[in-house]
Amino acid sequence: MLLRRLTEAFGPSGFEHEVRAILQEELEQYVSVWQRDALGNLIACKEAANGPRVMLAAHMDEVGLMVSHVDDAGLLHFHKVGGIDDRVLVSKPVFVGKERVPGVIGAKAIHLQKPEERTQVIPHRSLFIDIGAKSKDEALEKVKIGDYVVFATKYDEFGQGLAKGKAFDDRAGCVVLAEVLKEEFNFPLYGAFTVQEEIGLRGAGVAAYAIEPDMAIVIEGTTCNDVSGMDEHEYSTVLGGGPAITFMDTASIGNRAMIRELVRLAEENNIPYQFKGTVTGGNDAGRINVSRAGVPVVAISIPCRYIHSPVSVMSLADMENTIALIKLFLRSIEGGFRV
Ligand code: CO
Repeated sequence: MLLRRLTEAFGPSGFEHEVRAILQEELEQYVSVWQRDALGNLIACKEAANGPRVMLAAHMDEVGLMVSHVDDAGLLHFHKVGGIDDRVLVSKPVFVGKERVPGVIGAKAIHLQKPEERTQVIPHRSLFIDIGAKSKDEALEKVKIGDYVVFATKYDEFGQGLAKGKAFDDRAGCVVLAEVLKEEFNFPLYGAFTVQEEIGLRGAGVAAYAIEPDMAIVIEGTTCNDVSGMDEHEYSTVLGGGPAITFMDTASIGNRAMIRELVRLAEENNIPYQFKGTVTGGNDAGRINVSRAGVPVVAISIPCRYIHSPVSVMSLADMENTIALIKLFLRSIEGGFRV
């Protein structure tokens, strides 16, 4: 199953090759022309003689950690790669380096903490990764400074059509993009699997520059806070509520003509959809939007509870409905839709 393979892959920002290889293998029989740029973006090029140049983008990278120091006790100290809340780190199992050396993120035990320490979040610089080594030398036989670290989370399904795993942001988007690229369209379509989104939307900018699209859709995994303790008007998205269309976030404003068309298609075809209710955060759409002389964009996202943590929860129906809606939108371009 593609979602399982992609979410269990090791692919923090700047180290996306495992994800790239899975996608290229999955699409081998559907895509004959690929572009790989210097940053590592993988672009499926489905050329056609006429029609608008359409870019679809999903990022391959996930949030992670990077080893910065190995101490005399053989414990690894680390920096964060992308936005991870320090509170979700303590006591989590991880894999270090591409050999996937198993480790556990450790902290001083509660028994040893001073009363004031117990009421505070332990900053990640006070945490460490225990790989079972007894000394610095033993640790350095297994890992190196600069090694990436990802959460060691197995994909699983539970509840009614729900999935739990890591990196749904944005491997779920990669699944959507891969499924869309299995079909043929009569206009030039470019499927960009981008790198380094989580550390500042870096890959999408150069991918858009190379593609020069007339319009772009960014497929994302986004926040979903429809949980206890939140007022409904503060919900970002609702799990199972269908693809979430973004009007505005901190990086871009969605193109209104594209949004209207998506809503029309969803309603006519009984596909559930929702509007993202918050404006915090930003994604690849922000960078593509301001590429060259400007590109109309819209972001469509799959809601993910507990995003950027060791384990997120998403609805498989939301993913399937996102695939269906984007395919309909592309057929609408074939039928003459233009921005
Ligand atoms: Co994302």
